[in-house]
Amino acid sequence: MELNAMIDEAATDFEAVHGARPSGTWAAPGRVNLIGEHTDYNDGFVLPIALPHTTRVTARGRADRRLRLYSAQGDGRVTDLALDGLAPGVVAGWAAYPAGVFWALAEAGHPVGGADLFIDSDVPTGAGLSSSAALECATAAALNDLHGLGLTGPQLALVAQRAENAFVGVPCGVMDQMASACCTAGTALFLDTRTLEQRHVPFDLEAAGLRLLVIDTRVKHDLGDGAYAALRAGCERAAELLGLPALRDLAVADLDPALGRLPGELRSLVRHVVTENERVTETVERLEHGATAALGPILTAGHASLRDDFRVSCAETDLAVEAAVAAGALGARMTGGGFGGSVVALVAEADAEPVAEAVRSAFGSAGHRPPVVFTAVPSTGARRVA
Ligand code: GLA
Repeated sequence: MELNAMIDEAATDFEAVHGARPSGTWAAPGRVNLIGEHTDYNDGFVLPIALPHTTRVTARGRADRRLRLYSAQGDGRVTDLALDGLAPGVVAGWAAYPAGVFWALAEAGHPVGGADLFIDSDVPTGAGLSSSAALECATAAALNDLHGLGLTGPQLALVAQRAENAFVGVPCGVMDQMASACCTAGTALFLDTRTLEQRHVPFDLEAAGLRLLVIDTRVKHDLGDGAYAALRAGCERAAELLGLPALRDLAVADLDPALGRLPGELRSLVRHVVTENERVTETVERLEHGATAALGPILTAGHASLRDDFRVSCAETDLAVEAAVAAGALGARMTGGGFGGSVVALVAEADAEPVAEAVRSAFGSAGHRPPVVFTAVPSTGARRVA
């Protein structure tokens, strides 16, 4: 459905659920990361793009301090919460994400009041495409406007990340929220996660005769949840042992001697993070020289590093990468946190369908569920749409 039709429908649905016309609708996208994985909580570099898929929050302020949340993807019931009773651990399931944003804004001293929300989304969930960040950022954008808070995109992203870290309890970095809040159409977001300095790097796939395929493996391994926190802790421990503020501060040239000073189980984590930061800066350099097709080998090298050193890949993501590259993709890698989720593949336009077909057929032969394949178009970050 077109975005305009979705917005009209959302206003009608809002009225049916909440009994009044909404004040507006805000949209925030999911993302895929081109390169720079597990670098954000190490103060490093990332390069995500926003997807055309969005989460829309249609909203209206309330005079009392109640928060009434409804999701079109939910169980048909309104979640009714007292704004002043919000605390980490109090709200479960999807409602924790928008509630966490209210809580994080209030905690930071912003004057938020009650609200009615109608939430709808076409960002696939559990696919490593940041449906959580999209929901957080659309809520943050709505409240920012409803209450005239005047927060910038990066400030909204930090509020969203705070909601996820402290309210929902997921120790994620800032990449997903920054991508959802700040990306612009036709560009990739080159972000320094330490300083939050950002550059919108033109990523014109069409002009280069290329496509970026997203292959959603439809696999989500449960072990991902605890494992993410453990990996983050391992990276932080390694930085501490090396006497560095973060692994970002270790240069590639100093990698080998540094590895010698670390216990065996931390070495491969550090090698991934340090080489991955290099891959991000190299990718940006190639993009800025218009050498888009030359990104392929960097993507594939990034996958090998996630598979062999960081060990967050799985059979399905490995197979998607291998089958895509064997069928002529210029490069491919898993994207996002790992343990399932999605793969991105850079392909010449003419190879898009054959590569997608090769991956489907490889999944069929291996007995995996058919993957969902679509083309990613670098899209716009969080915004008011009605
Ligand atoms: C998840 C987290 C991000 C980032 C990626 C890995 O998407 O939410 O902060 O750490 O994993 O790059």
